Amino acid sequence: MQRPKPPRVFVTRQLPGEALARLGAFTTLRVWEQPLPPPREVLLAEAREADGLITLLTDRVDEPLLAEAPHLRVVSNVAVGYDNIDVAACTARRVAVGNTPGVLTETTADFAFALLLGLARRVVEADAYVRAGRWKTWDPSLLLGVDVHGATLGLVGLGAIGAAVARRARGFGMRVLYVNRRAKPELESELGLERVDKATLMAESDFVSLHVALCDETRHWLGREELATMKPGALLVNTARGPVVDQAALEEALASGHLGGAALDVTDPEPLSADSLLSKLPNVLLAPHIASASHSTRGRMASMAVDNLLAALEGRKPPHCVNPELFP
Ligand code: DGY
Repeated sequence: MQRPKPPRVFVTRQLPGEALARLGAFTTLRVWEQPLPPPREVLLAEAREADGLITLLTDRVDEPLLAEAPHLRVVSNVAVGYDNIDVAACTARRVAVGNTPGVLTETTADFAFALLLGLARRVVEADAYVRAGRWKTWDPSLLLGVDVHGATLGLVGLGAIGAAVARRARGFGMRVLYVNRRAKPELESELGLERVDKATLMAESDFVSLHVALCDETRHWLGREELATMKPGALLVNTARGPVVDQAALEEALASGHLGGAALDVTDPEPLSADSLLSKLPNVLLAPHIASASHSTRGRMASMAVDNLLAALEGRKPPHCVNPELFP
């Protein structure tokens, strides 16, 4: 008797850790080995034949792709965010969508705090200063920054990552404000957080850190109007998604000196265009979307993505499923 063919899976990039080796035992596996994402035509050609896709946030999964992918049963994203995927279109075509929440919470919060500290205390500028041989003597006015301890932090979004940043902030003796769709009374009493409206958060925060998913409601959440209401000299940290901020308005607020600085792990677009003003401003600290990039966390994200994919290929609900209504 002929054995059924193993499902065919396309992975859009080599992933850290052992997860892909595990996948190879159950599937006919094709992995895009190049450092840059597969071009659209390659993704479409692979999707045409695939039962499952493992994607990254750089891969657009939309209705035109789904329309060409008659066998597709699952798209497993190696990220907690899934704004690269049209989930409604996947659900309509009964394609399960998986993501990787939880595992990256603490790692991302570590990095958000690293950016906050690095920006406040001008760590990158200091490093460049020493390396350039400019350090001649101890100078009482050299590279002065702002204090983190005792300052007010405004969190935009109090999901798992926002809460993890709040814990770190409490350790630094910060006052922590937050805006969130829902009140979180347990976290308020555990960590002494204050839920405020957007205007208060903008007016009172020395640091504003963004922790919301990108959706229609949050696109350009921080626009020209909001930036103008931020405390003069305040610092912005973004480890969420670039388009949550109106980047042209941010550039103006930074160039005018109204904002003290910004530390951005995410930008719009990614990567930044070569002539972007952000990369020329000295009060901006930039990183290439690496908040979750620790060896252990990226390995666990890959492993979770494989678990999600395999479950869906077996007809089970993925452990982390964005459209669970497909599995009543
Ligand atoms: C995510 O998971 O959404 C991050 O942006 C990448 O780790």
